[in-house]
Amino acid sequence: MKKNIQIAIDGPAGAGKSTIAKIVAEALGFTYIDTGAMYRAVTYKAMQQNIHLDDEAKLAEMLAASTIELKPSSQGQLVFLDAQNVTEEIRSNEVTSSVSQVAAHARVRELLVAQQQNLAANGGVVMDGRDIATHVLKNAELKIFMSATVEERARRRFIDNQKRGIDSSLEKLQEEIALRDKKDSEREASPLIQAEDAVFLDTTALSIDDAAQAILKLAEEKML
Ligand code: C5P
Repeated sequence: MKKNIQIAIDGPAGAGKSTIAKIVAEALGFTYIDTGAMYRAVTYKAMQQNIHLDDEAKLAEMLAASTIELKPSSQGQLVFLDAQNVTEEIRSNEVTSSVSQVAAHARVRELLVAQQQNLAANGGVVMDGRDIATHVLKNAELKIFMSATVEERARRRFIDNQKRGIDSSLEKLQEEIALRDKKDSEREASPLIQAEDAVFLDTTALSIDDAAQAILKLAEEKML
C-alpha cells in the first residue's frame, strides 16, 4: 500500500479548499499545508515595512531574510512570521486585497515554491493553493481543482468573516473575490489554471463533508 501520497488542491478564493483540505489531511493523518498563508505572510510583512508591493527585488530580498512557519495546533494551523504569530493579521481585508499583487512576482513565487516543495518532499501532505498541481507538486498522485459560483464563494467568505469578527459587505466581497480571481488567473507567473490531470470538483451544492468524502475516496484509490 502506497501511503505517503501528495494531494494537490487548487482553485479560486472561497471554493472551500482550506476547510476541506484540513478534513482530508486529518482523516488520512497527513500534514496540511496552506500555501495562501505564506503569500499572505509576505504581503503582511511588506506592508508593515512600507515596501512597495510592485518592487519585486525588494520583496524578494525581504522574503529571503524571513522565516515563515506553519504549525498545527488545537485551534487549527498557526502561521508564524519571524517567530511572531500572525495567524489573525494575515486575514485582514488589507492583506486580502493586496496579496494577489505580491503573488504575481516570479521571484517571490520561486522562493516560496522552493519552501513548499521542501515541506512536501516526504509525501503524506495535502497542499492547497493556486499552482500546486501545475507547478509546485507536478507529480502529486492526486490533483483536485475545486470551484464554486462566485456568489456562493462570497457568501461563504461573508460567514467566515462574521465568525472572525471582521466587518464586510456581501456585494463588496463578491467584487473583491472576482477581482482576485481575475488577477490570479491572468498573471504571467504560474496563473491559476486547472492541471490537465486534475479532477474537477464543483462545491457549489456540496456540503463540506460530501466534498471531503469525495476526495478521500479518490485518495484511497491512489493509495492502493
Ligand atoms: O488561499 P488564499 O485565498 O489565502 O490565497 C491568497 C492569495 O495568495 C491568492 O489570492 C493568490 O494571489 C496567492 N496564492 C498564490 N499561489 C498559491 C496560493 C496563494 O498565488 N499557491
